[in-house]
Amino acid sequence: PVKRITVPQIAARKGDTPIVTLTAYTAPMAALVDAHADVILVGDSLGMVVHGLPSTIGVTLEMMILHGQAVMRGSDKAMVVIDMPFGSYEESPEQAFRNSARVMAETGCGAVKLEGGSRMAPTIRFLTERGIPVMAHIGLTPQATMTLGGFKTQGRDPATWPAHIQDAIDVEAAGAFSVVVEGVMEPLADRITEAVKIPTIGIGASKNCDGQVLVLDDMLGLSGRVPRFVKKFSDLGPRASEAIAEYAAAVRDRSFPGDDQVYR
Ligand code: KIV
Ligand code: NA
Repeated sequence: PVKRITVPQIAARKGDTPIVTLTAYTAPMAALVDAHADVILVGDSLGMVVHGLPSTIGVTLEMMILHGQAVMRGSDKAMVVIDMPFGSYEESPEQAFRNSARVMAETGCGAVKLEGGSRMAPTIRFLTERGIPVMAHIGLTPQATMTLGGFKTQGRDPATWPAHIQDAIDVEAAGAFSVVVEGVMEPLADRITEAVKIPTIGIGASKNCDGQVLVLDDMLGLSGRVPRFVKKFSDLGPRASEAIAEYAAAVRDRSFPGDDQVYR
């Protein structure tokens, strides 16, 4: 089997060719993404995208492990990163290690991702010193939308920039091998990318980040309303709807199954 892309290979991509990242939550979608991406993220966005939850707050460790296993089975080349869900890592470095170790052991993934900058640095250090590679996630951190008061672009006030830049510096110093920078003003994303030697992976950030990530369903046009930073590279939702409508009509008028779909 093809050897998967490793953490050191991703870490070495700073300022190099951009790191292509997409989410996937299932084996068939992971297989499609695996053919083109460097990193597959099993994001806790699956709570909203797959399970219809109102936010990522209700996502459990069990859900992340189940989808992580499916994505690992569907891929063999990309590095698979699994999100630590809300409540599974914030309490203490020990809690974070216990749950991250479970995710690693039960899925075979390459790394975990967790939200938070400077405040999570001690936890990131605790994990990375014990063999768990960590991708950090700063800027707009969706698990904090209740305290942030919604999905708000970060860094509109330049006075807040030093704190966001410090977040990146602190997660790098703590041992994170890369950092997702989400929902920040473009010049702030550029400053963050310049401030650290680990690759930044942008979403709603800047083309100058060392990589980009999008939610697969969003970029395929399967999600309905999406944020400004999403580019729909396809429009599969309306196409799926048309196919389903044709099927319904064909069942109702008995033109399906046709001669080719029955055993004679
Ligand atoms: O959960 C997710 O999909 C993510 C990415 C959008 C970065 O965290
Ligand atoms: Na996430």
